[in-house]
Formats: sequence, C-alpha cells, structure tokens
Amino acid sequence: MNPVPARVVENRRECERTRVLRLEPEEEVRWLPGQFLMLGIPGVDEKPMAFSGGDERELVLTVEVVGPFTRRCARLRPGDWVWVRGPYGRPFEPVGRRAAVVAGGTGVAPLVPLARWLRERGIRVHGILGGPHRDRLPRRRELERFSDEFYLTTEDGSAGRKGYPTDVLEGLLRDGRVDAVYACGPEAMLARVVELARRFRVPCQVSVVRYVKCGEGVCGSCALGRGLLVCRDGPVFWAEELEGTEFGRVRRGASGLPEDEERPRS
Ligand SMILES: Cc1cc2nc3c(=O)[nH]c(=O)nc-3n(C[C@H](O)[C@H](O)[C@H](O)COP(=O)(O)OP(=O)(O)OC[C@H]3O[C@@H](n4cnc5c(N)ncnc54)[C@H](O)[C@@H]3O)c2cc1C
Ligand code: FES
Repeated sequence: MNPVPARVVENRRECERTRVLRLEPEEEVRWLPGQFLMLGIPGVDEKPMAFSGGDERELVLTVEVVGPFTRRCARLRPGDWVWVRGPYGRPFEPVGRRAAVVAGGTGVAPLVPLARWLRERGIRVHGILGGPHRDRLPRRRELERFSDEFYLTTEDGSAGRKGYPTDVLEGLLRDGRVDAVYACGPEAMLARVVELARRFRVPCQVSVVRYVKCGEGVCGSCALGRGLLVCRDGPVFWAEELEGTEFGRVRRGASGLPEDEERPRS
C-alpha cells in the first residue's frame, strides 16, 4: 500500500505518558475499528498504531510514549507532516447484544471507536478501563461517552475500583450481563480475558500485539505460531484461534528473539 502524506492538526497530552494525535491525510483512509496503520515520521521510522477515532478524513491516534519513535511522536507539532500506510489487519466483528469492552491502558486505542460502532448498531456497551493509577487512564472520557455502563479500575485504588479490569469482567460474566467480550491491553490481561470468556462460554475477540515491520504479511516478523500473522490474520483474533500459539507465553522483539532474551545481560 502506498504511503499517504498526513498533516498533524493536533498533538495533546492525554494523561501521563500518552498523547492524542489528530492527522489529516491528503487522501481518504477508510478503516474499521480494530484495524491499524503504519505511521511514518520522515527520517525517523515507521511503526504500527491502531485507528483510535475520527473518520476517513481525520485520523485520531492514541500514542503511549515508550521509546525513541513514540518520543518523537510526542514532539510532533501542528503543521508537521507524517505519512500513513493502511488500513491493515482484520477488524472486530460485532456479535451479541450486550458487549463487554475491556481496555488495559493504551489498549483502549482501538476500543474507543469500537464502543461507538457497537452503540450505533444498538448493542449495549459495558466499557471497562483499567490502569496503574488515576493519571494513566487514557481516553477515559470518550470510552465513558460511548458506554451504557462504565467501570474504572486502578491498581492503587486512586480512581474507580481497586484492582484490574478483569475483576469487573468476571463479575459481569458471572451475573450473565454480557454476551460478547472485546479486549485490548497487556497480554497478561488478555490471557485472563480469554480464560474467563472460555469459562463462561461467551464469544471473545482480542487485539494482539506482535512486532510489526511490513504490515502486509510479507516479512514474517509478526508470526504468532500455527501459521498466523498478526498483521494479516489479526490483530483481532477470536479466542479459539489463539489456542496452541505463542499468545500469552512468548513475545518476540525486532530480532525475532523472545523479548527477554533480546535485552543485554549485565
Ligand atoms: C497492531 C498494532 C497496533 C498498535 N497500536 C498502538 C497504539 O494505538 N498506540 C500505541 O501507543 N502503541 C501501539 N502499538 C505499539 C507501538 O507500535 C509501539 O509501542 C511502538 O512501535 C514503540 O516504538 P518506540 O520506538 O517508541 O519503542 P521501542 O523502544 O522500539 O519499543 C518499546 C516497546 O514497543 C514494542 N515495539 C517497538 N516497535 C514495534 C513494532 N514495530 N511493532 C510492535 N511493537 C513494537 C517493543 O517490542 C517494546 O515492547 C501497536 C502495535 C501493533 C502491532
Ligand atoms: S509485519 Fe511483516 S508479516 Fe506481519
């Protein structure tokens, strides 16, 4: 797919470590919730980011600052030019009538437009957002706006309920209040979401992250095992599709080695 130049129109601090970027691409980019784009900064790099709001003429991204590329994203100013390639990947599929939308930290990125999209289809949304503390709850207002019921959790109890989003999910599933689960966030959280959905026999889709380089199913960098590629077959997977893959067990970095083996040993 050819890169499309896009102008930065806004770059605001959302909460600790997180920025929200608004971009105006020179050509329309049609996308669905769950899909992603490759964001390029001239002379820097190109990295995958989820579509996190807006429409085909204005793209919203939620960027957590974790390393060199995202630090550079944080310094982009209105009027700067970047490029976008995409959309890539498989989006979420709407199922059921009462959805749990479970977000861990920046995992909220694809779930804000998903919640909106589900609501527009008459599906009742239970939005759950969790983070370590009260200033690490990105897109809190938007997820709340697109939820019929909204729940916050923090690990230190500084906002909402003390604990994890999966604690809330478990209660909703036990009470029979949801008939579909959608989730994005840290893989340990996703593994627990999948386990709960399986236990309560509710269909579940999760958005999985692997090291994406080409985004087009060519380089093999994002292999998940069992022949699945995150950029082509995901990033959204049904829980059953993840059985027997590296999901929840191994995450590989840029070199293809497991991430804990890539770090230099002291
Ligand atoms: C489909 C998909 C959607 C994503 N959506 C978002 C999003 O909406 N918001 C957001 O903040 N982040 C998102 N990410 C993760 C984001 O791409 C990385 O955080 C970013 O590339 C980090 O680059 P860096 O140079 O700042 O950090 P680095 O120091 O290079 O890395 C920090 C961490 O990011 C991971 N990472 C680095 N490069 C990549 C890559 N090319 N693909 C996957 N992981 C990488 C590393 O493995 C490491 O765990 C998404 C990743 C994927 C695969
Ligand atoms: S990133 Fe190259 S195959 Fe998926």
